[in-house]
Amino acid sequence: MNMKNRNLISITDYSKEEYLHILKLAETFEKEPVQNIAQGKVVATLFFEPSTRTRLSFESAANRLGARVIGFSDASNSSTAKGESLADTIRTVSCYADLIVMRHPLEGTARLASEVATVPVINAGDGANQHPTQCMLDLYSIQKTQGTLDNLNIALVGDLKYGRTVHSLVEAMCNFNTTFHLVSPESLKLPSTVKMHIKERNLKYYQYTTIAEAVDKVDILYMTRVQRERFLDIQDYERVKNSCILDKSLLKNVKPNMKVLHPLPRVNEINTNVDPLPQAYYFQQAQNGVYVRQALIAAILGLK
Ligand code: CP
Repeated sequence: MNMKNRNLISITDYSKEEYLHILKLAETFEKEPVQNIAQGKVVATLFFEPSTRTRLSFESAANRLGARVIGFSDASNSSTAKGESLADTIRTVSCYADLIVMRHPLEGTARLASEVATVPVINAGDGANQHPTQCMLDLYSIQKTQGTLDNLNIALVGDLKYGRTVHSLVEAMCNFNTTFHLVSPESLKLPSTVKMHIKERNLKYYQYTTIAEAVDKVDILYMTRVQRERFLDIQDYERVKNSCILDKSLLKNVKPNMKVLHPLPRVNEINTNVDPLPQAYYFQQAQNGVYVRQALIAAILGLK
């Protein structure tokens, strides 16, 4: 499958077959992480919003492929601070790199960047919209822990309104006959634009306000942080910030194959008393990000 020069802006830009191709490729990188197939290539990581996992795992992935990395993790050190437009920044970086990985707080900016860039662009998160590479590593983690992506029961818990990882994951999992269990406070329910994907496929979904109502029914419990930075009124955040907290006492009667995932960072939504339990998979999930991002870089640069 040839994915050379493909942008990845929304998870729906890729087909189910393309997801599965990237996951297969990621397996090969998990078996053999150091493969110097990208020597001479330059990957730019442009982060206009904070990140630990996405930026560092992309940079780790590029390094393990033998590529060089340029970029910034704080746009206040770039010419954005002098008033340069995003379009001009992207046009310029296109002259220096073979691939651009970018994160921005505004929805739609990655798409805009892909329209002016002369090299492929990967969206590393745009506001509350999409986080497609997180989604790919979530798919990899689900497949690895469950042995399949098909016919699973998945609970998505927490900030379903602003959580971009949730939006991408729901849209991707609609390809695999998933039953969705949506757990959130009323004010943070899944947006109708995302729910539309579930309805279009005639898939089942249930909505709850507590974890207890869903936890024993599911194969995957996908926890998320309430996205404080997206709230216009901090009091609205204060009202919901402790709505859905996972404690080990909630995991007594779960299915034997059940795993807890979280894109991280966590604040308080998973008690640390869950961390030693066999269901806790979120740090392995973060590690899987390196293999999946190696696969994406290799495929988009046309090296695999
Ligand atoms: N999961 C994720 O996007 O983490 P970072 O914000 O640390 O990149």
